[in-house]
Amino acid sequence: HTRSASVQQLGGRIGARIDDVRLGADTSDADVAAVRDAILRHKVVFLRGQHHLDDEGQIAFAEKLGPLTSAHPTVNTGSAKVLSVNATKGMAANSWHTDVTFVDRVPAFSVLRGVTIPEYGGNTVWANTVTAYDALPRPLQALVEELWAVHTNEYDYAADTENPTSYEDSEVFDRAEFTRTRFETRHPVVRVHPETGERSLVLGQFVKSFEGLNGRESAELFNLLQNRVTRLENTIRWTWQTGDVAIWDNRATQHYAVADFGTQPREVRRITVAGDVPVSVDG
Ligand code: SIN
Repeated sequence: HTRSASVQQLGGRIGARIDDVRLGADTSDADVAAVRDAILRHKVVFLRGQHHLDDEGQIAFAEKLGPLTSAHPTVNTGSAKVLSVNATKGMAANSWHTDVTFVDRVPAFSVLRGVTIPEYGGNTVWANTVTAYDALPRPLQALVEELWAVHTNEYDYAADTENPTSYEDSEVFDRAEFTRTRFETRHPVVRVHPETGERSLVLGQFVKSFEGLNGRESAELFNLLQNRVTRLENTIRWTWQTGDVAIWDNRATQHYAVADFGTQPREVRRITVAGDVPVSVDG
């Protein structure tokens, strides 16, 4: 007798915990469907206790959600599919972002596994970019529906850090590796989700400017919109344990890894499922 997936909503606008699912190559079709439905509905889901998972198992499960993309367009990850975000190597993601929006085809899902988790700190926070759009007053919705943004990778993993041995000082982190190839693309600020039909805001740290606006106007409008995305009511914060897996819909979320764990080691590993080119409300 196999128990079916149990989905427990965690936040008012985003986040759910899934129990009674074992992730890996042998996850049943019914469980994969339940996980996928929960991701589309809750935007990010969390599964505890997946201690049996190694990179291969994580890859095998992620492939059930769709074809994978390379782990990262500019980072030499050692493996084509796994991105290790390792604080000991000076890597941090403590800036609000949607993964890899500086390429044309923004990834659909990310599957992140807690490998080394600090005693304290090091939470990750997700925000719902669909409810952020929904909550905008109608005149602002009309404005952003017309708007396109330019995204670049110039700041990937280059956020502020309180850790003094950070990027530039690090002996192991090759800062240049992240910017060796410069990516730049344009996306509509409002995209129509290919599976749910929902409208979401496509913003985050890789936005350089809005087309047709000057630098100061872009910065002011960006702050206004981005603040709506990251409003606390619109977020869920996860305290990691080793063996946890978080899976999010990268077309409906942003996230932020809180860099408050000092010099403790922290490593999470990400597998990325391919997505498509964001489509505006005009098609
Ligand atoms: C990421 O942005 O992919 C990593 C998030 C984290 O370190 O928790």
